[in-house]
Formats: sequence, structure tokens, C-alpha cells
Amino acid sequence: MHRAKISVIGAGNVGATCAHWAAAKELGDVVLLDIPDREGVARGKALDLLCCGPIERFDSSVIGTSDYKDIAGSDVVIVTAGLPRKPGMSRDDLIQTNVRIVKSVSEQVREYAPDSFVILVSNPLDAMVYTAWKATGFPTNRIVGQAGCLDVARFRAFLAMEIGCSVEDISALLLGGHGDDMVPLPRYTSVHGVPISQLLDNKTITACVDRAKVGGGEIVKLMGTSAYYAPASASVQMAEAVIKDKKRILPCAAYCQSEFGVGGYFVGVPCVLGGSGVEKIVEVELVGDEQKLMDESIAHVKDLVRVVTEMFPELS
Ligand code: LAC
Repeated sequence: MHRAKISVIGAGNVGATCAHWAAAKELGDVVLLDIPDREGVARGKALDLLCCGPIERFDSSVIGTSDYKDIAGSDVVIVTAGLPRKPGMSRDDLIQTNVRIVKSVSEQVREYAPDSFVILVSNPLDAMVYTAWKATGFPTNRIVGQAGCLDVARFRAFLAMEIGCSVEDISALLLGGHGDDMVPLPRYTSVHGVPISQLLDNKTITACVDRAKVGGGEIVKLMGTSAYYAPASASVQMAEAVIKDKKRILPCAAYCQSEFGVGGYFVGVPCVLGGSGVEKIVEVELVGDEQKLMDESIAHVKDLVRVVTEMFPELS
């Protein structure tokens, strides 16, 4: 019986919490990797987590390391390496530093886990997944960015608070880049099939849309650094879909050529995620402002990718 292996690059808040969710769900064996200076942190957090096994009842092995050889044979690699936001920063402000980190991590992933499925979490997300795609040379079905699963979870949580219903019953759709111009789609959002327009007035729906768009920033303001519980939970949701070949339809930053008029960039779109990675992009009809907002979000992603290719022309 194949035992899945999940490697998490970066043992900071998001990385360690990814390892936590992956082990708690017993998705497979977990490797938590950081740079040599932080090897003690990676090993310490891994050991601490491993010791939860007897209480939480998982038998996953969890190891910490700074040696990329330990990621060999990974089914899924989750890349969280890079700086998080501080108050007053946008995700875009991280690009100069994080593109260097993500490029170098991706080169190691290409060498040591060449058959893995890669999930990018580092920001600015849409440009980082592009960087990792170029630097790994992986086929587009085996590389995605995590953003939509998080953003849509926030949208669902805020709607549930307003409606006073279970978050489980809310099904929502959200497209575009992982910036404040992401595109939540109320028209495709329902509570167990009931359109939200029948349960909430327009003003409340708009407030939920706006809060979801800046949901990451709201948390940065409160605690001085980026969110990590929900970003990690969303990343592991994607890993689980691949490892268990669930064929879930989840919003991912996936490579779109003709889809949604994107033209060769990674942007948040609904995907079928299964054992072969991104098995399909699900195109939905956009009307009126929806396409306009999507186009604006795509234009923003293109600007960020331009910064990457200006810094590293070999990633063009
Ligand atoms: C957020 C970061 C992880 O949205 O991008 O919280």
C-alpha cells in the first residue's frame, strides 16, 4: 500500500500549520523543511507535532530537516517559504524578496521531488506560482497556487455569520488573483441551493464581498503578521484532493491559456483537483461586471509577472 508523503517548505507559521493539518488528517508522512539556519526550528516543530500522534491518534511520521534530499519521493510539496506581510504592506510589496526565495526553492524541488504535485502559498501568490512553474519546468497540471480555497472560505465564513447558518451549507465561487481585486461571485453563491440574494439584502452581500477581499489584511492589522490557520487549512484541503484522488472542484490559481480569456497566466479559477493534479478547468459564464472585474484582476496578475520576468529574464 502506498503511503503518501507531503513535504512542506518553510517551517514558519503557515508551513508548520500545514504540517499540523496534514498530520492530524493522517494524509501521509510529513517532512517540514527550512533553511540550515532554521533547521532546529523545523526539527523542533516536527518533533513537537509527532508527539501529538498518541493523543490525536495519527501514525504519520513527521520529520524536520534542512536537507532537500529528505523531500525525495514526495507526492505533494507545499511551498510556504518567503516573508509574510507586516501591517501596512500589500502582498505585492513582498515580490522582490519572495521571488528569489521561491525560485531557489523551486530549483531544489525540481531536483529532489521531480514527480511531485506542487502547491504554492508564498505571496504575491499568482506571481510566485508562475515563478515556480518556470523554475521547476513542471507540467501545468502539476503546479498550482493556493488562494481561492482560502478566499472562498473567508467569504463563506462571513456569509454564514450574517445569515446565521452553518458554514457547511454555503457553496460559493470566487475567481481571479489573490489580491484585494479578487472576484467573489454572489451570483454563483448559495445556501444549500438557495441563492444568497433570497436570504440577504444587497448591502450585506456587498459587505461580505468586500470583507472577503481584504480578509487577509484584516488579520495582518490585528496581529501584525499574515494569517496562517486558514491559509494552511486551505492548502491541505488541496493536498487531500490530490492524494485521495477526490476530484473536488476547488478554486485554484491554475494555468489558463484560453480559459476565461487569461492568455497564459496562473489565475484563480475553479478546477477539478484529483490524482493527476489539475484535471480540468471548469469555465463558467460571466456576465456584466463579473467579466470586467475578472479582466482587472488578470491585468494585475500580469503586472506582477512582468516584475518577475524583469528581475529574472530566464523565467520569461
Ligand atoms: C492571506 C495571505 C496568506 O490572505 O495571503 O492571509
